[in-house]
Amino acid sequence: MQHHTAVPKRKRDQFVEDLRFLKSWASNPLRTGAVSPSSRELAERMAQDVDPAHPGILVELGPGTGVITRALIDRGFDASRLVLVEYNPKFCRMLKEAFPGVTVLRGDAYQLRDHLRHLGNPQLAGVVTGLPLFTRPLPQRVRLINDCLEALDPGRPIVQFSYALVPPVPMGHGDYTIDVSKWVWRNLPPARVWTYRRPRG
Ligand SMILES: C[S@@+](CC[C@H](N)C(=O)[O-])C[C@H]1O[C@@H](n2cnc3c(N)ncnc32)[C@H](O)[C@@H]1O
Repeated sequence: MQHHTAVPKRKRDQFVEDLRFLKSWASNPLRTGAVSPSSRELAERMAQDVDPAHPGILVELGPGTGVITRALIDRGFDASRLVLVEYNPKFCRMLKEAFPGVTVLRGDAYQLRDHLRHLGNPQLAGVVTGLPLFTRPLPQRVRLINDCLEALDPGRPIVQFSYALVPPVPMGHGDYTIDVSKWVWRNLPPARVWTYRRPRG
């Protein structure tokens, strides 16, 4: 007689997500940038820095399998306010299924200006990014941060995590302030959250 141990659906879904992520990393390590999705703790820390009370849409760059997307929805952002830009077509399919009502754009996050133009240059509440910025040369990172800042009102955040000791874009490459979080140890590897804002007035 065979005994089947039931695996709870959430755990099974998590396993499938992790496996897809690992496969994506194996086929393109530089683009995927991590071997597994971010932890819930890191996702929640990212979501803390954006405020659903601010008007406008929230752009998420490099959402992957949607760990941070879920934290943003739990933070109070309605799915209809989320625009996700993801390169991997399999992740795009997963995101559309998992988060009905979100806008998923399959494409290159570094072409943010074009994406926003296609959307009619809407007002933004913030930009949240899980992009592996350090895999790109500094001038490309600088351009991306400045493109985001240009689309954001002063004080509105760009929230980025990284595993490094230094900010993904250091001070001195535009008009912005940088805040850094404490280390989030419950993440593999531990990470910190860097928040960029254009100063008010
Ligand atoms: C380090 S993973 C982070 C995934 C997710 N945000 C998380 O924290 O688990 C980076 C994600 O960015 C996506 N990505 C990398 N470069 C991209 C680009 N130029 N445009 C859009 N997505 C990109 C990858 O496909 C991957 O899903």
